[in-house]
Amino acid sequence: MASTHGVGSAQVLVASNRGPVSYAVREDGSLHAKRGGGGLVSGLSAIGPDAGALWVCSALGDGDREAVRRGVGEAGVRMLDIPADVHADAYNGIANSVLWFVHHMIYQTPLEPVFDAEFRRQWASYESYNRAFAEALAEEAGEGAAVLVQDYHLCLVPGMLRALRPDLRISHFSHTPWAPVDYFALLPDDIRSQLLHGMLAADRLGFLTRRWADAFTACAAKFAEGPWQTLVDVHGLGADADFLRARSHEADVEERITALRAEIGTAPEGAARKAIVRVDRTELSKNIVRGLLAYRELLDTRPEWRERVVHVAFAYPSRQDLAVYRDYMVEVQRVAEEINERYGTPDWTPVLLHLKDDFARSLAAYRLADVALVNPIRDGMNLVAKEMPVVSDAGCALVLSREAGAFWELGDEAFVVNPYDILETARALHDALTMGPGERAERTKRLAVAATALPPAQWFLEQLQALRDVQPS
Ligand code: F6P
Repeated sequence: MASTHGVGSAQVLVASNRGPVSYAVREDGSLHAKRGGGGLVSGLSAIGPDAGALWVCSALGDGDREAVRRGVGEAGVRMLDIPADVHADAYNGIANSVLWFVHHMIYQTPLEPVFDAEFRRQWASYESYNRAFAEALAEEAGEGAAVLVQDYHLCLVPGMLRALRPDLRISHFSHTPWAPVDYFALLPDDIRSQLLHGMLAADRLGFLTRRWADAFTACAAKFAEGPWQTLVDVHGLGADADFLRARSHEADVEERITALRAEIGTAPEGAARKAIVRVDRTELSKNIVRGLLAYRELLDTRPEWRERVVHVAFAYPSRQDLAVYRDYMVEVQRVAEEINERYGTPDWTPVLLHLKDDFARSLAAYRLADVALVNPIRDGMNLVAKEMPVVSDAGCALVLSREAGAFWELGDEAFVVNPYDILETARALHDALTMGPGERAERTKRLAVAATALPPAQWFLEQLQALRDVQPS
């Protein structure tokens, strides 16, 4: 097969912006490696070390760049040292400030978006960042290899890679929602077309729910010129029950449970207070502020809950290079403090807000949750909604946004809310808090079954198999 590059040896390649490992430079100059988790990590470990797998990712910070320069790395991972300014334009400028905003529909449209010369400059960086991935994949892939490209950061890769290596089987998976036609139409015509054609060059496109897959197909039907034959399919990533159940019973989690119980405290009657738990990255789409407003409404209109409930809100920093994310975090803190000032008593802090990322403490909160609050404006799936019922000790009632991908799998057993409707969300919190223990345990069981229907390793293997089954055209 004709190729502009030497053919490499990898048989299964994954490409994503964030890789499975990141590096920090210690004070003594040595490098410290930190490993991440998630569906792709489980999937690649499931195919075993001899499968000829390679993960191509981007160096994200100074530690990663230093690791690339020193030639330090993990077997099976190739980190691309894309120039920091190009990466910043592509990741912060285009992926997180344009594509994320379009697919989550979170622009304040009277003033944004503005597609000007600065946008075009950043778009050129997005193109060269995608090209760097396509070239590395073309270099590394063996004849006929399967390449699984991930997410909105890399929409142009399938098209660029196809041009370099027509022999490859290529898929692209979107971990986000996809915008409806009228919202996708905000993008300039040529950009829309590049994004769609970039993705349609893949053999298969994967989405988390039928809703997002249908939205993509509608955009492609409306805006993509010419015929296309790409398969569009749904793979609803589930929670990793085995890992979560084992990890959430380790000693560090038990310690945090004790600490968290003390923070939550006891109601005037002496019983433990109820806990409404949320755990999120402080992400604009997660709707943390409206969650707090609904909790305030609950305390306001149902005074019987005062001193008897605590809102445990873990809001971990995310994308702090972007001012709008920093401002959002400040707003979350402001509203939480306002509630604590207004309703708090010497023995009761109504909102326990923690901003420092601590996985063990998140699992502790999952175990203690009476109510799980998952109310995003819009979300590809939302794995927290799936994880909490799996981990919770006594069962938790789920208050779930109808705009989360998880709604399609868990909606029947949840208290479903319109994420913009504060009064409805407050009512749902009340209903969830008052659900009897028997029904709560039963519903939690059914939620956990639905949440674990497609564990991460199977989710990955299913896509790999489907890609290998594609008939070469
Ligand atoms: O949640 C959707 C998602 O696209 C994930 O696939 C991905 O890990 C994350 O968002 C990106 O977040 P970050 O900008 O922190 O890498």
